Formats: sequence, C-alpha cells, structure tokens
Amino acid sequence: MAVVLAQEGSHLAKKIRPRCIGILTAGGDCQALNAAIRGVAKAAISAFDLQVLGFLDGFRGLVEDKSIFLESGSLSNLLTLGGTILGTSRDRPHRMPVGKETVDMTEVAVQHYHAHHLDCLVCLGGGGTQKNALRLKKHGLNIITLPKTIDNDVSGTDISFGFDTAMTIAAEAIDRIHTTAESHNRIMVVEIMGHNAGWLALGAGMAGGADAILIPEIPYKISSVVEAVLGRSRRGRRFSIIAIAEGAKTIEEANAVREAAEEAPPDGKPDRKVRAKQQQAAPAASAAVRLAEALQAEAGMETRVIALGHVQRGGPPTSADRLLATLLGTKATELIMDNTFGVMVAVRGDQCVPVPLEEAAGKLRIVPLDHPWLRSARLVGTCLGD
Ligand code: F6P
Repeated sequence: MAVVLAQEGSHLAKKIRPRCIGILTAGGDCQALNAAIRGVAKAAISAFDLQVLGFLDGFRGLVEDKSIFLESGSLSNLLTLGGTILGTSRDRPHRMPVGKETVDMTEVAVQHYHAHHLDCLVCLGGGGTQKNALRLKKHGLNIITLPKTIDNDVSGTDISFGFDTAMTIAAEAIDRIHTTAESHNRIMVVEIMGHNAGWLALGAGMAGGADAILIPEIPYKISSVVEAVLGRSRRGRRFSIIAIAEGAKTIEEANAVREAAEEAPPDGKPDRKVRAKQQQAAPAASAAVRLAEALQAEAGMETRVIALGHVQRGGPPTSADRLLATLLGTKATELIMDNTFGVMVAVRGDQCVPVPLEEAAGKLRIVPLDHPWLRSARLVGTCLGD
C-alpha cells in the first residue's frame, strides 16, 4: 500500500498523492487553534484539492469515530475566533476512560484512520499531544503535529502558538493591577499559568513590570521576596506586584518534591507509601496563596491574591499568534504534499521546519537559567527570588 511505503521514510518509498487528511485539536485549548485549523485546511482544500476530515474532541473523536468534513465555507471567520471549532480533550488513545475502566484503544484509533483512507493525521497540541502522536506514528500512521500551548513548553520549537496571546492578557492584567495596588499600598500576588514552565510568568511579569517574578526553574527564598518588598517600601514605593508561576516553589518545597520523586523506582510505578509521600510533598494551597500568607506574616503588609486562570486562554488571538498559526498550518499542508510525515512543524528562527516527533515528545522546554530574559530582568532590578 502506498501509504505504508511512504511512512517507511526510505528514499526508495513511492511518493503518494495525498487525497484526504484528518485533523484534530487535543489537550487544553488556547488561542489561534482555529487560525491553525484554517491554515491547514484552506491550503489543503484550495491549493491542493484535498478533503479534510475534522475529528471532534481530540483523540476521543478518532477513537469514537466522530468527525465532520471541513468545507471551505466552514473556514470563514476563524482567524479571530478563540477556542477550537473541533472541540478538545485530554484523552489519550492508549489510556481511554471507557465507563469506569481505562482501556487501550490505540488499535481502534488506527482502524478508524484507515477506514477513512486518510493519508495523514494532523494533530494540534502541546507536550501530551506530541507523545500521543508519536505513539500513533509508531503504529504506522502518517502524522504531522503543530505545537500549541500557552505554556510555551513544547520541546524542539522556539515558540508555540497561544503563548503570545496568553502573555499579552497576563501582562495587561498586571497593568490594571498596578493602579489599585498603588492606591491601597498593597502587595498583589498575581498567579500565572504555565504548568511546570516559567515562560508565561516571566514574559508577562517582565512586560507588566512586576517587582518580583517567581518561576519553577528558580526555587525561591521567602526572605528574598520579603526583602524586595520591604526595600521598595523604604524607597517610598509602598506597593509591590509579584508575578508567580503556578508551578513555582520555595527551595524547601522543591527539595521535598525532588526527594519524593527520587524514591519512585525509575521504570515502575511508585508503591502506596511513596505515592503518599509524593502527595504530602505536593502542597494543598496554590503557589500564590502560599506566598501571600508568608508575605502577609513576614512583611506585615496587606496582601491580595489574583489567580488569572483560564482568562489567559480565552478570547481572540493576537496578530502574532494568528500569523504564527497560519505559517505553521500552511507549512504542515506543504509537508503533507511532500510526503514528509512523522514530524512536528517547529519554529526555528524565522523558518517553519519539520523536526522528528521524537525530538518534541516527552521533553519539557523550560526556561534555561542563562536565558537573556532572566539576565535582563535582573538588570532592571526584578527580584527572581534567589
Ligand atoms: O497547558 C495549558 C494549561 O493552561 C496550563 O497552564 C495549566 O496548568 C493547565 O492547562 C490547566 O488545565 P485545565 O484547563 O485542564 O484546568
């Protein structure tokens, strides 16, 4: 079969003329998913005369065979629309919740791909999606992925779409908090999403001029933050804004989590005792609440917490994200026509390039400690908690 020959990736493999492709969006939503769907599908339909089948609610749609054909008429007004017209979920084909059970449905997903005579499946998603896509590639499917996430933590690419919009929203929130913080002489602790990466808090914190920025990559000392806040007070600035990533931890918290993780066997699942210890190490209150309580007690200043939450993922994408999603989406379609499969379309400098899925899956892109953003933040006097 032509598809299998092309998937083998050898230069002898016969080129196929793709006719029908599938597309799905998986993981948490973000802005510009629709712009990316539009980029893939418009290029596929108008430039290359392909059929495009959209699977609903992420990989669940592939497993349950729920799909819709995307026609050129359904691709209007998508550039500015937040969310995803296909719906999304965090379901994984190899561990699908079915009733009360968790079942490996990979073979079913593979069967549905073939039943629709797909020549490629385009998966738009973050780190988890790259891993799920790689599993399907290993089962012989032609896969292309696009990197999307507000966390900007997908490995192998300089940037993911969704990040710029979320950073813009979070920075604007910090701008607004400035005036009320100053009026009341308060400490405002703004919690910013990002999972275990600090890109969003760092970018938004710097753009919004936060006085302290705390990220998971730099476990922090409460005393450093207290000193930063009191130092500002002594200089007549009786308010402070702290941007804290949801995954940020004090040095003690980070050590406890690391020790608990070290007890887990490298290949197997942790036993009950280890799991209990890991749970104990994971603090119950959010990062912002923990910090605010400590600051109120130690700096003696009135403190408020603002968790920006899903506001960061909602509404229309910025121009930068619309453009990026369009570039990545159209490049994906060009790669399909070139029979280049098993790759993520990544941003490297000003180019969109294919990188092997193995490079993107299973690795977290965190903020390197020598990153220019960190150096610059320190130079303008921002406390980074260390
Ligand atoms: O990965 C995107 C993200 O928004 C993270 O920043 C956050 O930790 C998580 O998703 C929230 O997930 P959910 O939408 O499932 O609550």
